[in-house]
Amino acid sequence: MTQPLTIALSKGRILDDTLPLLAEAGIHPAEDINKSRKLIFDTNHEHIKLVVIRAADVPTYVEYGAADLGVSGKDVLMEYDSDNLCEPLDLKIATCRLMTAAVKGYELPEGRLKVATKFVNVAKKYFAEQGRQVDIIKLYGGMELAPIMGLADLIVDIVDTGNTLKANGLEPRDDIAPISSRLVASRAAMKVKHAQIQPIIDLIGAAVERQQQAK
Ligand code: ATP
Ligand code: PRP
Repeated sequence: MTQPLTIALSKGRILDDTLPLLAEAGIHPAEDINKSRKLIFDTNHEHIKLVVIRAADVPTYVEYGAADLGVSGKDVLMEYDSDNLCEPLDLKIATCRLMTAAVKGYELPEGRLKVATKFVNVAKKYFAEQGRQVDIIKLYGGMELAPIMGLADLIVDIVDTGNTLKANGLEPRDDIAPISSRLVASRAAMKVKHAQIQPIIDLIGAAVERQQQAK
């Protein structure tokens, strides 16, 4: 009998794009995920189960083998930064950019910069590469408020349309990385469970191709 295979899905914005992609791949949850309080879902494939968790927790479930595959934003994966994970597919959903931003027209001070973000590791690495000394201030959301309130010179955050920055009197400054959601697996599972995992990667990969062609 085939062992069950679990895919960990990121709740929230990514889930809205993931469910149509899974449907295109012929993977349908047994009930409406958005209307249920359950966290584990059967699918029309007897051996495929879905778990729906906080976006930031997906890499952890996959790295420790509690889930076989996951769907994670590249931003989350960059912040998690584990050598034990690999990204067999770019799902090309929930696309946006990771950027720095500041108050419109604000001239950055010469010395140390105060940078507010929830992407602490990404920000540290980015400014180290730039040779800029920074104090990182960890926030959990609403980063756009920090420069307005004088908490920080810059923020590192997700930008899509730019509307949130504009609505708060901020402007984008530097691009750090283009972001999309990725199918993620542990390097260990890719070896040990290759025969089970690869057909699912192929199914979802073909669905990504079809979605791109339909655009
Ligand atoms: P939580 O609610 O668990 O704290 P969150 O607020 O980061 O997480 P979402 O806002 O649903 O959750 O966003 C999750 C992911 O969606 C991000 O990590 C990023 O990959 C992607 N994302 C965030 N904002 C946008 C956006 N404006 N446009 C496109 N994709 C986005
Ligand atoms: C995300 C991100 C930005 C905004 C960018 O926030 O943190 O605030 O989207 O999108 P835009 O450039 O199209 O305006 P989200 O709406 O997910 O809210 P949250 O991070 O506070 O949960």
